[in-house]
Amino acid sequence: MICSAQPSTVEVRKFWNLNVVQKQESLFGQRLRSKHDDTLCMNLPSKNEEYGTKEYWNQRYTQEAAEDAHFDWFRSYADLAPFIRDVMPDKKSRILMLGCGNSKLSEEMWEDGYKNIVNIDYSSVVVEQMRQRHQAVRPEMEWHEMDVRDLQFDDDAFDVAIDKGTMDAMMTSKGDVWDPPEQIVQDCTKEVDEVLRVLRKGRGVFLYLTFGQPHFRKRYLMRPGTTLEIKELGEAFHYYLYVIRT
Ligand SMILES: C[S@@+](CC[C@H](N)C(=O)[O-])C[C@H]1O[C@@H](n2cnc3c(N)ncnc32)[C@H](O)[C@@H]1O
Repeated sequence: MICSAQPSTVEVRKFWNLNVVQKQESLFGQRLRSKHDDTLCMNLPSKNEEYGTKEYWNQRYTQEAAEDAHFDWFRSYADLAPFIRDVMPDKKSRILMLGCGNSKLSEEMWEDGYKNIVNIDYSSVVVEQMRQRHQAVRPEMEWHEMDVRDLQFDDDAFDVAIDKGTMDAMMTSKGDVWDPPEQIVQDCTKEVDEVLRVLRKGRGVFLYLTFGQPHFRKRYLMRPGTTLEIKELGEAFHYYLYVIRT
């Protein structure tokens, strides 16, 4: 069985934890509906900080393998396609998917004509699952076990890099969101340093989709020689698409 799901409201609430603002509480109060949501709920970490560990993700993807599950955090390709096509009119663009998980984003972009996608995740479990799932039908796509803080690619190797919820997973350790722990600052800074290094200078684009409001994210994303544009998605519950151009 192939399942497709948006993250359950319970999970988004847990993941978001410290950043939840009062007016959005009612949205998170919805109850879980599907069996798949129930499985995902069973995989919730006991502590929010576990989202920042490789062990948690490996264990979660091992459990989800039984359902051959897909799980798209925050938004699906259908929601993002207009923005992606706008910033990436050339379907031959070389794309780096940062922390791919078992999302359908790469698959659906591939179906839309973007064939040149390199997927990375630090969970060896999900990388192997995704390779097995896609290699026969989508042989051009690459799958690598790799950390976003230490990219094993040459400088200027990609036109576009996409992060949907991956930097957020590195921001789940305990602490003051207004004054984040040094480890979070270092991790996010390293990811952005690495992404800007591997993007083609003068024409590279980094797309980052998150629930994180600009005050909490701009500090990592604003760099000399780049431009930052922020788009808001959604009505009651907002996501933010940060567009950084080299
Ligand atoms: C919240 S999930 C998002 C998955 C997918 N991008 C999506 O939109 O559905 C975060 C993913 O990032 C991966 N991840 C977290 N930290 C990472 C790191 N430092 N390097 C590579 N992958 C990482 C996790 O293994 C997990 O698959």
